[in-house]
Amino acid sequence: MSTTLTVQQNLELLGKYQYVEVQMMELMGSWAYTMVDPEIKIGFGRQMYQDSVHADLLGKRIPELKGRSAHFHYIAPSDEFTRLLERIWKLEGDLLRMIGLYRIAKPALVDAYEAHLQSVELPADEPTAYILRHITDEENDHIAWAEQILARLVHGSGITESIASLQAELGKELSASGGVSGKGKQSGTYTFKKTHAYSVAPVRDARWKIIDRPDEFTEKTWSFDTTEGKQHLLHDLLNSEFITVERMGRIIADCPDIPWQMKMDMVHQAWDEARHAEIVQRRLEELGGHVGMFTTSCWGWEQDVNREDPLERLALSNMTFESESCKHLRDWIRKAKAQNDARSLQLLEFLLADEVNHVLYGVHWIDELTKDDPERRKRVLAYPDQVLKNQHPVGVYFDETTNARERIA
Ligand SMILES: [Fe+2]
Ligand SMILES: [Fe+2]
Repeated sequence: MSTTLTVQQNLELLGKYQYVEVQMMELMGSWAYTMVDPEIKIGFGRQMYQDSVHADLLGKRIPELKGRSAHFHYIAPSDEFTRLLERIWKLEGDLLRMIGLYRIAKPALVDAYEAHLQSVELPADEPTAYILRHITDEENDHIAWAEQILARLVHGSGITESIASLQAELGKELSASGGVSGKGKQSGTYTFKKTHAYSVAPVRDARWKIIDRPDEFTEKTWSFDTTEGKQHLLHDLLNSEFITVERMGRIIADCPDIPWQMKMDMVHQAWDEARHAEIVQRRLEELGGHVGMFTTSCWGWEQDVNREDPLERLALSNMTFESESCKHLRDWIRKAKAQNDARSLQLLEFLLADEVNHVLYGVHWIDELTKDDPERRKRVLAYPDQVLKNQHPVGVYFDETTNARERIA
């Protein structure tokens, strides 16, 4: 008897992998704004996108194997496995969450992929092997990245023993759950929502000086003409890049029922913003600046992530704030050119290319999802004005933004 996997066995497993990849995205998305360590936020932005690509590749292989019914997508390995994910999701603090995700959940995924690759019927099922090899490589990279951070977090945490016992306990629960392939278990029906309390601001490390009153915040009035001006503007932009990784993560976690392609766009944006944070911080430091050198504001966060309708969030942040940001970037690009600041120019042009796409994500998904719902469209498009009428941070103007909104009104 053959010990390689049949088409039917393949289908069941691919659906489980897809479920777990999506759950990983949601864990990271849900946690990003509460994690203190900026390197973790940036890593989450990148890995949310990579996990979405994994889920997407798996999802494309399923119909190729004649798994046409929705049943074959998104299969929970077992109720016990989902409860383990819920337990990991509820862990508190950067360190324990990193342990749960990168020493339990992700290695479980890698184990399942490696076992699968041992049993692939070749060359008949080469397409599955091809996908799984690629995904396994990236998952191993994620784990290696996390281990570097864990080495730093564990060192001096003073809780090495309790970490070891938590890890042992979760490991036991994982094997009792049947793991990612759900060995010996019925596929699961248990679900949990990654809900959030009302959020006033995302978490920042101790270097940042966040001010509460938007009317006292004047950073945006600086000009890109001088090094000092650049430091102020890039410092403010850096915080905005983090905010956008965090708010994209929140859409993924808060709104699991949005269309798959919309999720792919949201996590692509999270990845873009994570890279922007790296780029902007590097340029700030090249110009003699550092994180925390000026005050900053998280104005807009509270008005975004607490809205139940993800389209209101996109209307406010993607179509309004990011549209505004494109205008600023064009101005900075002009000034960088005039001063022969080739390094800033090179980076700003890449940033602008991405930001234009972010505005378009907002335009596209609001247009697409409200085309048969004029009431919702009206409410969504009115939301930014409703917010901006009462609170208007100094130096922020929104005159160009109505153009994007008019296009779909
Ligand atoms: Fe950005
Ligand atoms: Fe953006």
